[in-house]
Amino acid sequence: MTVEANLKILVAVTGGIAAYKSAELVRLFVKAGADVQVLMTEGAQAFVTPLTFQALTGKAVRSSLLDPAAELGMGHIELARWADHIVIAPATADSLARLSQGMANDLLTTVILAYQGPVTIAPAMNQAMWSNVITQDNIKRLSAFHPHWSWVGPDAGEQACGDVGPGRMSSPEAIAHQVLGAATDKTLTGKRVVISAGPTRERLDPVRYISNFSSGKMGYALAQAAQQAGADVVLVSGPVALQVPKGVRLVSVESAQDMHDAVMKAAVGSDLFIATAAVADYRPETTAAQKMKKSDKTLSRTIDLVENPDIVASVARLTTGRPFVVGFAAETHDAVAYGQDKRVKKQLDMVVINDVSVPGLGFGSDDNQVTLVSAEIQESYGPAAKIRIAQWLIEKIADHL
Ligand code: PMT
Repeated sequence: MTVEANLKILVAVTGGIAAYKSAELVRLFVKAGADVQVLMTEGAQAFVTPLTFQALTGKAVRSSLLDPAAELGMGHIELARWADHIVIAPATADSLARLSQGMANDLLTTVILAYQGPVTIAPAMNQAMWSNVITQDNIKRLSAFHPHWSWVGPDAGEQACGDVGPGRMSSPEAIAHQVLGAATDKTLTGKRVVISAGPTRERLDPVRYISNFSSGKMGYALAQAAQQAGADVVLVSGPVALQVPKGVRLVSVESAQDMHDAVMKAAVGSDLFIATAAVADYRPETTAAQKMKKSDKTLSRTIDLVENPDIVASVARLTTGRPFVVGFAAETHDAVAYGQDKRVKKQLDMVVINDVSVPGLGFGSDDNQVTLVSAEIQESYGPAAKIRIAQWLIEKIADHL
């Protein structure tokens, strides 16, 4: 994504372990063409040195409230006037508490008090601190005072302290995407887009199911990219542990049949359907009403499977209200040939081929590498973060709508 060269972003780094990720965030902003300055609190400097950010931005890092080097000697006023957008990443529980009380005892809090433009906050802290009613109350206060501030994350997962839960700072790619989203070309304005994502679960009994390793990351990234390109997005998702992108409507489903029904309902009359979901091709013919019991050392039982509906093919076969249909093809060898074959057999307008045999790409990972093919084009992108892949795909697909 590129932005106008004069977009001035002030990145405020506060004192949490996630501060190291802010270096990558700054790099992404610089790469996108923004003019970036970094402000660090005293706590942040215990985790990362100002020199890291100075090297990335080519500018001295700001940390002092009364700064003799600043114009007028008042760094906070100068920075507040300079920035087009302020990003606080990571935003610790302490910084949120101080901001919510309107304190003005360091450069960050005074800049924010003196600033009237857009602010994006990426919180990061221990999961118990995040869930604490006081932190949540501070966030409510901030949101009430500043309804136009935007929030990214936090994500759930394993934390530096060993806890598991919400509190991890969102990826630099996700934060950059949200901030730069305002500068994204609105190529899908007025379009209704339906996206399927994640795995499906096919029940064997009340406690067991057949599924796959899809995390939903590719589909959720596409939903975010489409929403930021101006589309009205419906995300039909199997069970995943991801936050729904802001502004996207979620329809949660479990099985392939559920996903089929939800997609057919949403896709008829829409403009674009993108099928990223890893749908189980088969389901058990019967689902046991009671939990199957462990009886012996060996289990000899035959599970008969029956075919699930092919969702993307059903949408592509619609005779009225058919959207532009883009499928995915997860391949492990001869990826482009098999992908093209799927495009033709399922009557898709385009197919996104990913070779899921490459370690670190495809299922479950944050990155991917894709080849987009239609009857006319074949173009590749990546390896790159799924959010960047998604944005590239949306731009390309929008060109063909
Ligand atoms: O979720 P992630 O962890 O981020 O991983 C992303 C991904 C690897 C799952 C994704 O990039 C991807 O490749 N999705 C398609 C996976 C798949 O099932 O591929 P397939 O080649 O088996 O299916 C081809 C197409 O038919 C897909 O668009 C699929 O959604 C669709 N399909 C398949 C079966 C079925 N019954 N109904 C369908 O709609």
